[in-house]
Amino acid sequence: MASIQTRLSLTLTLTATMLLAACGGGSSAPAQSTAAAATPPPAAAPAVMKIYEQTCHNCHSMPASGAPQAGDKNAWAPRVAQGRDTLIDHSINGYKSMPPMGTCTACTEDDFVALIEYMSGAKLK
Ligand code: HEC
Repeated sequence: MASIQTRLSLTLTLTATMLLAACGGGSSAPAQSTAAAATPPPAAAPAVMKIYEQTCHNCHSMPASGAPQAGDKNAWAPRVAQGRDTLIDHSINGYKSMPPMGTCTACTEDDFVALIEYMSGAKLK
């Protein structure tokens, strides 16, 4: 939780700085790239959040990992479109740089569905 708050306050600081710069700087448009950091989605059930914090979080709240970030709906949309079965298969067996089981060796299929729905903000079909 602490790291999400740190990230959030960092984002707010950056936004405030950009607004100030936009007021003083005249024509320079506010940079959109810094706003790309995904806003964390609304928290899921506590049990799901606990798993998330201990496993998926390490990459899915870490842009440098190359993983689609939690709350980044655009990054998740094409992945969600693959359907539930493919996403479960990729979660269990791994997919490119995504490690098998997402490092959550105790996770069940239902856990993965809940985690993916949390990260993507979409219902899996
Ligand atoms: C070590 C880093 C890492 C961890 C930990 C991790 N992931 Fe991922 N995950 C990735 C990366 C990187 C990708 C993007 C793979 C690609 O498309 O190149 C990814 C992609 C995915 C995808 C999309 C796969 C697809 O078909 O597009 C799902 C679903 C997913 N992760 C679920 C999870 C879940 C659930 C957890 C926690 C249980 C988790 N991941 C933990 C790195 C990680």
